[in-house]
Amino acid sequence: MQAYEPDIEKILISEKEIAAKLVEMGTRITQDYRDSNLLLIGVLKGAFVVMADLARHIELPLEFDFMAVSSYGAATKTSGVVRILKDLDHDLEGRDVLLVEDIVDSGLTLKYLLKNLAARKPTSLEVAALLRKRGIQQVELDLRYVGFDIPNEFVVGYGLDFAEKYRNLPYVGTLRAEAYGGV
Ligand code: IMP
Ligand code: MG
Repeated sequence: MQAYEPDIEKILISEKEIAAKLVEMGTRITQDYRDSNLLLIGVLKGAFVVMADLARHIELPLEFDFMAVSSYGAATKTSGVVRILKDLDHDLEGRDVLLVEDIVDSGLTLKYLLKNLAARKPTSLEVAALLRKRGIQQVELDLRYVGFDIPNEFVVGYGLDFAEKYRNLPYVGTLRAEAYGGV
């Protein structure tokens, strides 16, 4: 994607690698959720790209819902403080729920969300995350489906932003120092 090229330091995961991984994850999910009434929940905004692409590899009747939570803002460090900005439209009671995340970094956001969602009594609650940062999770999390374990670097693309930009990059990459523009 030329528009962003001067800002990108390196490509960490290519468009092809992501596509192949989502086929693999979708196939597993299809097998695991046969005969259940699966509800995919995406955490906005980051998960919208993964959600759209992953869902098209899940060969089951599906419903979708979205939640928005406060996250980094324009900075690149997690605060651990999670605020629900948009709640779900669906009732979770008796549903098989799969929470779709772009990235698990400290895991604090996810931990909060899982606790919040579990309280709504779904039949099952699992997580599918495209990326997980290696070894720095501050909390123990049991992630059923993980695409890639990546080094502890700030990444953009495939839904992930820096200051709301780069979400439409078709791959996952790191930014050159100059692209942070003094933030
Ligand atoms: P966590 O609570 O530290 O696991 O991360 C919360 C959220 O921060 C994620 O869902 C992302 O939206 C965002 N985030 C974490 N790491 C990165 C990154 O490397 N690039 C862009 N956003 C990130
Ligand atoms: Mg997110």
